[in-house]
Amino acid sequence: MTQINGKYLLLTGGSRGIGPVIADALARRGAHIALAARSQEGLNRVAESLRKFEMQILTVSVDLAKPAERRKLVSTVLEKFGAIDILINNAGLESEGAYLDLPWETIRETLEVNLIAPMELTYLVLPHMLEKKMGHIVNIASVAAKCGGPYAATYAATKAGLAEWAYGLHLELENTGVRFSTIFPGYITEVGMFARFGVTPPRSVGSCTPAQVANAVVKAIEHNSLDVVVNSFPTRVFVHSGNCHLLLESGCIRHPAPWSSNARKLVCSVRKREICCPIQRAADVGYIPRFRALFLA
Ligand SMILES: NC(=O)c1ccc[n+]([C@@H]2O[C@H](COP(=O)([O-])OP(=O)(O)OC[C@H]3O[C@@H](n4cnc5c(N)ncnc54)[C@H](OP(=O)(O)O)[C@@H]3O)[C@@H](O)[C@H]2O)c1
Repeated sequence: MTQINGKYLLLTGGSRGIGPVIADALARRGAHIALAARSQEGLNRVAESLRKFEMQILTVSVDLAKPAERRKLVSTVLEKFGAIDILINNAGLESEGAYLDLPWETIRETLEVNLIAPMELTYLVLPHMLEKKMGHIVNIASVAAKCGGPYAATYAATKAGLAEWAYGLHLELENTGVRFSTIFPGYITEVGMFARFGVTPPRSVGSCTPAQVANAVVKAIEHNSLDVVVNSFPTRVFVHSGNCHLLLESGCIRHPAPWSSNARKLVCSVRKREICCPIQRAADVGYIPRFRALFLA
């Protein structure tokens, strides 16, 4: 089991959402943490809440969409901490909307923050980790990595890219001491980009709490887990088995994404059972044969 105690950690997306919850869980286990995000005010607030753990806490204001700032972030943390043992690529943007309604700049920024920044930060910290023959890169992907959907195609592309890139590097760097974990949360309740919309995800899509995500990160580091899906039953099982399209399409994805302007209508419809049950919708979209095959196999 890998000890988190005393490790130097860089966490992006540390100013709000699930980042602070992940930081709290890791500080409790004795990690020194560099928190990165754009909002210095948000970072200060989170850093203040972590002071009680008496670990070293560093804040770095950075726009991860900008390559020069990414490089500055890594050099600043290496200079102040002397090491980065664990990198957690958590910062992300959701950029929801019909593809052609989104300005190209928004699509490009989503790619920069969700995919290119994790790749470049890893590129910059890897030489140090390889030299020490020790390190861990944790990527916060999403169930969307396994199942693209309308109005979130770019987001899904970045998360799928992140997951497969990490898997490739994991294979490439096996036996070097550098490890990779990818976390696939479903909709996260209480805080973060989904909770801000104030809607309840349909049951068939599932959800998870920020504490469950933070716990998954801790366990992934301690036990060197490669892929961890964090979601309620049964979606978790479907995602693991590569069949998440079935449940996601049945419950939500065929409809406008829950954070779109139709969100309330969708959620009310689900609550009033106006949307037919998952199996009926599965039949609508031709998934019944796949569903049967899954249970007969
Ligand atoms: N919430 C969910 O339901 C859910 C589900 C699955 C996966 N995820 C993933 O979990 C991660 C965290 O999501 P969240 O829900 O906590 O989101 P959030 O509440 O929107 O927080 C996003 C974090 O990323 C930072 N960030 C955004 N753009 C940045 C930029 N250009 N440069 C530097 N930092 C930037 C934000 O800080 P500043 O604004 O201060 O820069 C903030 O700290 C994301 O990767 C997301 O895709 C979330």
